[in-house]
Amino acid sequence: MIRDRFIKINETFFRRFIKNNPGKEKIFENEGIVNILSPGRINIIGEHTDYNQGYSLPIAINKYIFLAVMRNGSDNVNIYNIGYDQYHSFALDEIVFDKNIKWPNYIKGILKEYVKSGVILSGFDLVIDSNLVSGSGLSSSAALLTGIALSFERISKLNNSREDIIEFCHSAENDFIGVNNGYLDHFAVVYGKKKNSLFIDFKKLSYEYVPLNLKDYIFLVIDSKEERYLPDTEYNIRREECLDALEKIKQLNSSNKYISLSDIDLPLLNNLKDNMGEKIYRRARHVITENQRVLKIKDYLIEDKIEKIGSLLLDSHKSLSGNYEVSTEKLDFIVNACKEIDGVDGIRLMGAGFGGCLLSIVKRSRVDSISKILKELYHNEFGLEPGFIECLSSDGCKQVQGG
Ligand code: GLA
Repeated sequence: MIRDRFIKINETFFRRFIKNNPGKEKIFENEGIVNILSPGRINIIGEHTDYNQGYSLPIAINKYIFLAVMRNGSDNVNIYNIGYDQYHSFALDEIVFDKNIKWPNYIKGILKEYVKSGVILSGFDLVIDSNLVSGSGLSSSAALLTGIALSFERISKLNNSREDIIEFCHSAENDFIGVNNGYLDHFAVVYGKKKNSLFIDFKKLSYEYVPLNLKDYIFLVIDSKEERYLPDTEYNIRREECLDALEKIKQLNSSNKYISLSDIDLPLLNNLKDNMGEKIYRRARHVITENQRVLKIKDYLIEDKIEKIGSLLLDSHKSLSGNYEVSTEKLDFIVNACKEIDGVDGIRLMGAGFGGCLLSIVKRSRVDSISKILKELYHNEFGLEPGFIECLSSDGCKQVQGG
């Protein structure tokens, strides 16, 4: 199936390329095409903890960005994005942010990182296709960044480590795109492993695999169809508020020993509650309790008790909505509706929030009835049809054989 898809991409690419570059077919023969499969991710738990040096538990999923790439012997990058049916080209000596067409900026951002690391760029042609919903909390940005980085590594015969690639992607997103995000998405996309979740400790920047046994459950992602583009949300403001909370706690304790909110425990925070602003108290409370939920779910997975995680997902949503204020009317509606639907064990908004997708854990046998009920309720309320995506675990970003 995936192989077929790549053959399709390559054929599309061949046709376009040959049409636009008559006589240059030889490039294909000389250089060959590199095919990369870059997954999205779901996050079982641990939201807005990454930039607070806490914990998360994501899974790379079987929804991907597909890339077919080859050197073109010029100083230009030519890209055809099948999903958007858009063609975009830029010269390597003119890598500038373009606010009018957003997705090519991710490619430019990564290339800038390679330049910073001392690599001399050479031009390439690239076709992108995807079955990963973008702008909805499934990390399409990290999938694209990582996919580009790995493509570029392969066509340029570079040998950077996976850690380096994560750093490039993280810096590109922070410095070029302007989202001050953490490492959650890049870790999940790079280190994902089939049948496993990834427990990440962001303080140590380390990870371990936690085997997944879903029994008769499935992770069902519900797309609210409320689109958001992360750089335009209050994401960066939340990050600032966390820093403000940390500063206040340090000041009230006359102590410099706390490096991040994840160093604070709940009793200490509660002692300071009346002396710190109410808003930053709530932000800190979310981070601290969310870390606790990650550790609990990690234990449940190790103990093979998947049936216990649902209620923690609901607690997480309550905290993301009430304390962290990254939910929306539509997301809250779906969560509240699901509480009444048979077969849904737990649900919460996923990723940054402000719209996008929710993650639910549901009985596999109930998926159809859950979708039917929710479709009707949501449509009646908002006139929108939610999307339903059944997610299985996947390996991280890798090169695959194409056509
Ligand atoms: C986005 C960011 C991540 C993380 C999540 C929230 O996906 O890219 O770094 O902060 O939001 O957990």
